[in-house]
Amino acid sequence: MKPQVLDSVAALREAVAGWRAEGSSVALVPTMGALHAGHMALVHAARAEAGRTVVSLFVNPTQFAPSEDFSSYPRSAADDLAQLAEAGVEAVFMPRVDTVYPPGFATTVRVGGVTAGLESAARPHFFAGVATVVTKLLLQCLPDAAYFGEKDYQQLATVRRLVADLDIPCRIEAVPTVRAADGLALSSRNAYLSTDERRVAPALFRVLSEMAAALARGGAATDEVVRGVAALEAAGFGHIDYLAVCDAGTLTPVTRVEGPARVLAAAWLGTTRLIDNVPVDPAG
Ligand code: PAJ
Repeated sequence: MKPQVLDSVAALREAVAGWRAEGSSVALVPTMGALHAGHMALVHAARAEAGRTVVSLFVNPTQFAPSEDFSSYPRSAADDLAQLAEAGVEAVFMPRVDTVYPPGFATTVRVGGVTAGLESAARPHFFAGVATVVTKLLLQCLPDAAYFGEKDYQQLATVRRLVADLDIPCRIEAVPTVRAADGLALSSRNAYLSTDERRVAPALFRVLSEMAAALARGGAATDEVVRGVAALEAAGFGHIDYLAVCDAGTLTPVTRVEGPARVLAAAWLGTTRLIDNVPVDPAG
């Protein structure tokens, strides 16, 4: 069955109220569209646990800097809707930009702590844009649970923080990163890679995984970061925005892994910026 396509907050609230009246639980999967198997893993996880699932498709202008790819960000609504129909999603929320940000809009949600460093160093505007739109989507839909990918690990930590801090009554569920067979994390931006760059791209996951294994055996973070940077450069990566070993909860850098940790990186291949992260389990 085709999902209902909703473009206003009133229509979304009415649909959710109807499901609630039937006793159904509700899940929300926020996305910017251009759906791939990574997004669909979130949708399947939501469908498995909730009575009704809403997927939002909204390319959020406030999380792009003027120099970034807002206008060229891949948009494929017809294909997205076909995939969501196939998955059995009940509703798709596709608001216009002026529905989310009407004239006079003047509120920004800023999250501290976990947003420091990593993505923020190169993209200082990013988490305020994400936090603001995610807060709005959660309050518009008021789902029982919302689903986010570990692929964007700092974003996931930011969403967990804001939901706790603002007492938003919604569970945040994390879904592991979905990868291509060669290890490259699926991303809408992979479409920008040339054939040669696509061949180099899986080195990011390989290097992060090698670092995580060495750290789990007791390696020092500084040594592993130096080795990792050299390995990424040797593989053909250009500028490395960051390569860091951080506490998995607070995202503060650690020098030696003693509890759950994460290796996170952002690096450029030509004009495409790739991000990825892997867990370090000292017990594992
Ligand atoms: P977008 O990049 O479209 O991603 C939507 C969700 O899909 C995010 O939670 C992201 O972590 C998850 N995702 C993307 N690729 C994945 C993969 N390979 N494996 C698992 N999950 C993956 O992230 C955003 O949109 C936006 O910032 C948003 C949260 C929608 C706010 O605008």
